[in-house]
Amino acid sequence: MATQNQDRLRTHFSSTPDKEHNNRWDDLWRDSTFLPWDRGHANPALIDLLQERGRPLSSPDPNPSLGAPPPNSESAGYASLAGPLRDDKKRRRVLVPGCGKGYDVALFAAHGYDAYGLEVSSHAAEAAKGYLKDADKGPMEGEYKVADEKIGKGVMNVVCGDFFEDGWLADVEGWEGDEGFDIIYDITSTGGVLICLEFPTHKPASSGGPPWSLPPLVHTELLKQPGEDISYDDQGVVIKTDREETDNALVKIAHYTPRRTHDAGVIKGLVRDCVSMWRHKVDCPEEQRWH
Ligand SMILES: C[S@@+](CC[C@H](N)C(=O)[O-])C[C@H]1O[C@@H](n2cnc3c(N)ncnc32)[C@H](O)[C@@H]1O
Repeated sequence: MATQNQDRLRTHFSSTPDKEHNNRWDDLWRDSTFLPWDRGHANPALIDLLQERGRPLSSPDPNPSLGAPPPNSESAGYASLAGPLRDDKKRRRVLVPGCGKGYDVALFAAHGYDAYGLEVSSHAAEAAKGYLKDADKGPMEGEYKVADEKIGKGVMNVVCGDFFEDGWLADVEGWEGDEGFDIIYDITSTGGVLICLEFPTHKPASSGGPPWSLPPLVHTELLKQPGEDISYDDQGVVIKTDREETDNALVKIAHYTPRRTHDAGVIKGLVRDCVSMWRHKVDCPEEQRWH
């Protein structure tokens, strides 16, 4: 079934040029009968990360994906994720690009962060606004209830726009005051932390997408020199290089195989997804780097 869905999704996008892809996402959301990535709740790996923030962790399972952390490797990952309140008691701000129905937005807000979902599809943005009105009444209601009554719940906002264009920032409260985002689930900004759910790590590069094959090595290679191309072999497999980090590089502060993830990331009983966290090199003392 997963393969059938992937084939159908790939065909949906491959039949149009890249510049039409935003509209193709919106077509899927307008029709709303084929949303195979939508699993009705946030990824358990993110749920665990937020619930256990501050505790050390290790990668329990062997994960044979290219560039995955070795089993039992220690990580300071949970300690690296800043809590919802700053020293001045203002809430930290989280951006969730491509938020879909907004499960991750609800999750971050329940943990006390001010959460902003970004969607290129206006129909998805509407669906998210509807969902977020009643998120704490859904099937995984425990996950979206306020985690700590003393801290309370953050705001949940949904903005419509293309991540790769800046127009949507005008709709983000506080943006002109240069408040920025403290955490981005998938993509990063100065001073912030980037959390990547690395999926699908197991897919052969030749099988196309979305979802595109994404072994952890792709993140490592891309973030060493943000904005620069990376190299692939003739099978489309990313090549590990020893090229230098640029000044605007992102450096890894945590990397682990989570205990749980969506079923799509569990192959033959093994969790194959990984979670990595990154900071800008200029903001990150050497001792906080994950090696
Ligand atoms: C694979 S879905 C994941 C949705 C959601 N994160 C989830 O896990 O259920 C990718 C989402 O990103 C949105 N998207 C794709 N390209 C985008 C872009 N350039 N800017 C903002 N959203 C985008 C799509 O409309 C789609 O809802």
